[in-house]
Amino acid sequence: MKIGIIGSGYVGLVTGACFAELGHDVLCMDDNDEKIAILKAGQVPIYEPGLDELIHANVEEGRLVFTSSMKDTVQKSEILFVCVGTPSKPDGEADLSAVETVGKRIGEDLNDEKLIVEKSTVPARTARWLGEIIQSKNKKRIPFEIAVNPEFLSEGTAIHDFMHPDRIVLGVSSQQAASHLVSLYEPLNSPILVTDIESAELIKHASNAFLAMKISYINAVAQICEKTGADILKVAKGIGLDSRIGTAFLNAGIGYGGACFPKDLAAFVHLAEEYGYDFKLLKSVAEINLNQRKAPVQKLKEIFGDLTRKTIGILGASFKPNTDDLREAPSLEVIQILLQEKAEIKVYDPAAMENMKKLFPTLYYARDPYDCSSGCDALLLLTEWQAFKHLNLLKIKKSMRQPVLIDGRNLFDPSRMSRLGYQYYGIGRPSPSLAETSSQKTLSS
Ligand SMILES: NC(=O)c1ccc[n+]([C@@H]2O[C@H](COP(=O)([O-])OP(=O)(O)OC[C@H]3O[C@@H](n4cnc5c(N)ncnc54)[C@H](O)[C@@H]3O)[C@@H](O)[C@H]2O)c1
Repeated sequence: MKIGIIGSGYVGLVTGACFAELGHDVLCMDDNDEKIAILKAGQVPIYEPGLDELIHANVEEGRLVFTSSMKDTVQKSEILFVCVGTPSKPDGEADLSAVETVGKRIGEDLNDEKLIVEKSTVPARTARWLGEIIQSKNKKRIPFEIAVNPEFLSEGTAIHDFMHPDRIVLGVSSQQAASHLVSLYEPLNSPILVTDIESAELIKHASNAFLAMKISYINAVAQICEKTGADILKVAKGIGLDSRIGTAFLNAGIGYGGACFPKDLAAFVHLAEEYGYDFKLLKSVAEINLNQRKAPVQKLKEIFGDLTRKTIGILGASFKPNTDDLREAPSLEVIQILLQEKAEIKVYDPAAMENMKKLFPTLYYARDPYDCSSGCDALLLLTEWQAFKHLNLLKIKKSMRQPVLIDGRNLFDPSRMSRLGYQYYGIGRPSPSLAETSSQKTLSS
């Protein structure tokens, strides 16, 4: 099949490369000329494991081509996937301006019958609106149809997620659209759920909101663990072993970030409001998440009081491991608060350093984790890159001015860290001070 991808970012590039790998002819389009020039020069503008190889192999075999021409993409494709960004407006509403621009351009350039598939995450009823926009510019009245195919991939494991999805959701309004899309996805041998258009759109928002809710729930429980001396890792395991609950997304930490959860949650709350429902549950999820991001700096203030001129090392900046994506990364807020507190900041991240430099040009960017820890009064681990698990922790400790480590992702074992001589604080794990207080209580009772 001839497939056009409009918007070649994290989702568009992975979708395009994977469809090419499945044997289709794919044109990946973007209106960012610089991005297309990088891709045409044989480089990949984002860090996503396995994507370079997949793109190169399919470009080499002539199935994957990059372009900045919308006209070519529309006119040479049978199916168009709209994969442009849908960020948040200040009030939480989804900003659909890129979808609108694309809709107008598709309408102007239509030359023969097309299936136009909304893959960007959008509020329910956007596809209907997109159809109207396309039609408003479709002067020759060329037939087209809109379908919805939300994407559930996660950055860092995007290719695997695309090729082995838990489910494929197809929102359609005709049998013909359903059979086109089913035949496209059949080789993946994954469950395919065909629904109406609005249900498919809502499934995506409701899924992301549910996952975010699990994270905020376990983070709220972690707060209680810290106060009672319980250990969130044991509590989460005990909860997750219940098959009705499951273990996924029960890792306490400094909260979720990224290009999806925060904005999709806000857009879902906004959509609910538009239809007269006050989604208090999801408002609390977002509030818990924002508070959770502040936890590492609060802990530092408890330890040091004043943070002026304290040197703080940040290990991990991307919003999750295996990506260079900094969108809504908790690290950004942590760094902003530390700067307000006049701390001196050193940063190390395996993939996101170049993106960080664009946002915070004046921080110290370390060569490696050891350069980052050197001379620090405290280290904050903010992203659970697996490489950090294998650090020489004695070497790190020796290089620091004070052996304070705040583990925002519970990557390390508290008793090991204490044996190594660290003043270690996880999230929702018994803190040294609480352990002292409870043992004093036991002695005096
Ligand atoms: N990133 C994820 O993990 C993920 C997962 C599932 C769904 N989504 C959803 O997929 C959509 C895309 O997300 P992303 O992370 O790939 O965003 P992105 O910002 O990485 O990519 C969007 C691309 O669209 C391009 N673009 C914008 N306007 C355009 C236009 N008028 N014409 C052509 N190209 C245009 C941008 O230049 C950019 O390259 C969003 O709705 C997002 O919520 C993202």
